[in-house]
Amino acid sequence: MLQGKKILLGITGGIAAYKIPLLIRLLKKAGAEVKVIITPAAKEFVTPLTLATLSGSPVESGFFDNETGVWNSHVELGLWADLMLVAPLTANTMAKMACGIADNFLLTVYLSARCPVMFAPAMDLDMYQHPATKDNINKLQQRGHRLIAATKGELASGLCGEGRMEEPEVMFETIKRFFEMQQRFSGKKILVSAGPTFEAIDPVRFIGNHSSGKMGLAIARALAQQGAEVELVLGPTELTIKHNLVSIYPVTTANEMYNTCMALFSVCDAAIMSAAVADYTPKTVSGQKIKKNEDAWSIDLIRTPDILKTLGQSKTDQQKLIGFALETENGVNNAIEKIKSKNLDLIVLNQLSDPGAGFRHDTNKANLIDKSGQITVLPLKSKDELANDIADALWQLFETSKQ
Ligand code: PMT
Repeated sequence: MLQGKKILLGITGGIAAYKIPLLIRLLKKAGAEVKVIITPAAKEFVTPLTLATLSGSPVESGFFDNETGVWNSHVELGLWADLMLVAPLTANTMAKMACGIADNFLLTVYLSARCPVMFAPAMDLDMYQHPATKDNINKLQQRGHRLIAATKGELASGLCGEGRMEEPEVMFETIKRFFEMQQRFSGKKILVSAGPTFEAIDPVRFIGNHSSGKMGLAIARALAQQGAEVELVLGPTELTIKHNLVSIYPVTTANEMYNTCMALFSVCDAAIMSAAVADYTPKTVSGQKIKKNEDAWSIDLIRTPDILKTLGQSKTDQQKLIGFALETENGVNNAIEKIKSKNLDLIVLNQLSDPGAGFRHDTNKANLIDKSGQITVLPLKSKDELANDIADALWQLFETSKQ
């Protein structure tokens, strides 16, 4: 899996840097190409000679090679890599990465890298727990970077707690799994709906909802990062996604979303419907702005097509269908009812009563419920992480139907 993969290791100035030579050995033995960049402070903890010998490549540290007079191109290194891992990552460099500061070679490479990024923080207990550090970890994760979380144990300071960099063997397994996962949906085409729908009342007003599209965009991103071709049907939102495996179909109304999803689904292997679709739309749309003249005003509404239900009716045995349920009461019962009535393989239940869950947040809290009624209760996590859990669940559905 790692044969020929190009891995760029960024090492910053923490005592855990002494573990990196072992990681390099493991990567090289598995056939990966490894290049190393270190910050000036990291040189105090691990020698460039050790790193260059094990990686088989000169270690980069500054913008210029003073001996040869050659300028080191941060852009080239950033483009070279299939994966950049910064480990150990100090609180200082993490804060700079979060802010986009580029005052050393490692940071300029980070800003130029187009590849996925992993980071493995290592620092003392109190620094790791500081709200600034937690915010910075969140920021990097929201950027789609993968956290190799610090573990608990004895720290170099003598304190005991969270802050130890993960062991090299575990980091190696994480990298291996990352490359396995990167390809696992390769050859699969997946329909994703995201965002709200807007139902016009007149040229000025509409019926809409609070969906930002964040959840659905996170799902599209996670699937594309794992090799799927994603057909993203996106309601009106300012957010978007750029990925060569994601095709975006912008829509405004529930009817447009229905028509687009119906046109796409037959050639897809699965659909994940996270959009918040209006259940009703005005019976007629006024061509002119409706003037106010009465105290009260009522509008005739008619039902919109239930997209998820229609997909459930047309799906083949090979196609997998995942719906969402957004509930304010009786969440589990309502979600189970939706699995049955809409012929779903899985439903993602999120409830507005959970703090940090649902509309607009960067986080969500969900239960995954399968059609046998088995419930996986997930904690509050970033929408990116939840999207990865949903991708895992979809993968399981594909695997199970092979048996
Ligand atoms: O976009 P964010 O700000 O990140 O917020 C995310 C979210 C809260 C919108 C998302 O997590 C979510 O819960 N999406 C589903 C919202 C919803 O409309 O739930 P529902 O229980 O009303 O609908 C059930 C399912 O039927 C959903 O999969 C929905 O897409 C689908 N549906 C609903 C109505 C309709 N006419 N057609 C449909 O396909």
